[in-house]
Amino acid sequence: MPATFARVWKEIRRDVRAAQERDPAARDVGSSEILAIWPGVHAVLAHRVAHALFEAHIPFAPRLIAGVARLLTGIEIHPAARIGRGLFIDHGMGVVIGETAEIGDDVTLYQGVTLGGTGFSCGKRHPTVEDNVTIGSGAKLLGPITVGHGSKIGANTVVIHDVPPNSTVVGNPGHPVRIDGRRPEGPDADWVHLPDPISDAIKGLASRIGALERALAERGVDPATIPGDGDGDGNGEPLRAARGPNPAGG
Ligand SMILES: CC(C)(COP(=O)(O)OP(=O)(O)OC[C@H]1O[C@@H](n2cnc3c(N)ncnc32)[C@H](O)[C@@H]1OP(=O)(O)O)[C@@H](O)C(=O)NCCC(=O)NCCS
Repeated sequence: MPATFARVWKEIRRDVRAAQERDPAARDVGSSEILAIWPGVHAVLAHRVAHALFEAHIPFAPRLIAGVARLLTGIEIHPAARIGRGLFIDHGMGVVIGETAEIGDDVTLYQGVTLGGTGFSCGKRHPTVEDNVTIGSGAKLLGPITVGHGSKIGANTVVIHDVPPNSTVVGNPGHPVRIDGRRPEGPDADWVHLPDPISDAIKGLASRIGALERALAERGVDPATIPGDGDGDGNGEPLRAARGPNPAGG
């Protein structure tokens, strides 16, 4: 029994230290104040009790504890979810952690994060989040995917595929913008900076016109003196004379 108390005390201290280390607003706040006030810490501690009772096959109480914790903190963690040491949930409101979710050590979640399932199937249907992962506010991680250790998920990202370790994933659908600190390579790797053939063509034409104007200038011809539409400003020579009513008219 004393060994159990020692272990629980160690876990509580680690959860409180996680808040002090990863919440800039908690740097100068004492452990007892964090324990009394931080909703993310309350939710994690309540979950640890609920999960222990769930593992011991005690009926009703685990779900009751999870329900009360949700009422008080706005954070919903299924009692069966497996959570490692040092989880820190910052702000917390709107966080949902599903039944078969697994979270490693020293993970940080911001408000509005969902570790959810994608349908009505049973079995493993929620994400696995490895150690030292940070998940930004509003991010949705759906299905039995794995987020590799040390990765960062941007705010409001929707992740439906595995995330490699030590990468940064953003957008909807979530895609890696950094892997091991470098931009990913390959034709399909960058879904943000897609090729724009029209813009490329316009840029090509503009640079060609510039080259032609420079060539003319070298021959002593001022491009502005080239006859245009007859008004002498050198611009807008129509291909054929305009006839009939103004086509731009309403
Ligand atoms: C994803 C995140 C962790 C990135 O941090 P980082 O590793 O420093 O990466 P960078 O800031 O260099 O961003 C990498 C690229 O992703 C883009 N990006 C970053 N966050 C993004 C987001 N949430 N959505 C879309 N694109 C994002 C950047 O513009 C940059 O694009 P570029 O490669 O074209 O320049 C961070 O932007 C984020 O979203 N953190 C969550 C913070 C949060 O939820 N705070 C709540 C406090 S209450």
